[in-house]
Amino acid sequence: MIKLRSIIVVVSVAFLAWSCTHPAENATANNQNNNTGGNNNTNTTDKSCNPDSVYFANDILPIVQSNCAKSGCHDSKSHREGVNLSDYKNIKRYVNAGNPNRSTLFSIIGRGMPPYYEQQVSSTQKQAIGDWISQGAKNNSCTDACDTTNYGFKDVIQPILTKYCGGCHGASSGSAGVKMIGYDNVVVYADDYSLLNAIQRVPGRLPMPPDNALPDCEVKLIELWINAGTPNN
Ligand code: HEC
Repeated sequence: MIKLRSIIVVVSVAFLAWSCTHPAENATANNQNNNTGGNNNTNTTDKSCNPDSVYFANDILPIVQSNCAKSGCHDSKSHREGVNLSDYKNIKRYVNAGNPNRSTLFSIIGRGMPPYYEQQVSSTQKQAIGDWISQGAKNNSCTDACDTTNYGFKDVIQPILTKYCGGCHGASSGSAGVKMIGYDNVVVYADDYSLLNAIQRVPGRLPMPPDNALPDCEVKLIELWINAGTPNN
């Protein structure tokens, strides 16, 4: 039964390799429902972050939302081919807890998904998904104190943007032409404040990421970096 279902999933996800598009109009419709900010992970128990653990809310959901649950692909509205990857409950359907290689969410990465013309999930990101599954695929989260002393572009700012924005705004496949990978790309949106307006969810501007707000700490770090004159450090 499980086997049959995974075959169906693999076939249908493979179908998306050529059929999946994500028109900007749909994203706008999504925004209207989801611009309240905050994050949706009410079932999770926050605790301080253990460096050996991978946390669903902190580490996995942002990657899956940006790379898979975009408008026109696997968000709750589009759910192409019935595949909805917008929240824990739905993501869990493609996971065999404890066994990444028998989890479609993991094994499909780099084998048809994301489609070749989209920003690819990096090997570090795939590893995080595999580790999370190996650790039991729990609906967990953690909170650390916000370290506002370090907001270097390379070590702090780019990793935040890659994780939360990169799937939609990759170096090659930027939604609305907006690219959030690479200093020269990012600095354009930092300088005209559209980056800050988007992540601060300023009324009247498009809130970004569309579905879940960036955590306050990440917003603060990006703001500090912009106020420091967007150094390429
Ligand atoms: C799930 C996909 C998705 C994610 C994740 C996402 N974006 Fe977007 N973004 C879009 C789409 C689609 C548009 C174009 C929307 C439109 O034009 O209606 C857009 C537009 C934008 C714009 C242009 C806004 C404007 O005012 O013109 C900026 C800036 C932006 N995004 C920044 C970000 C940043 C920064 C992140 C991460 C913190 C992010 N986005 C995450 C899909 C996404």
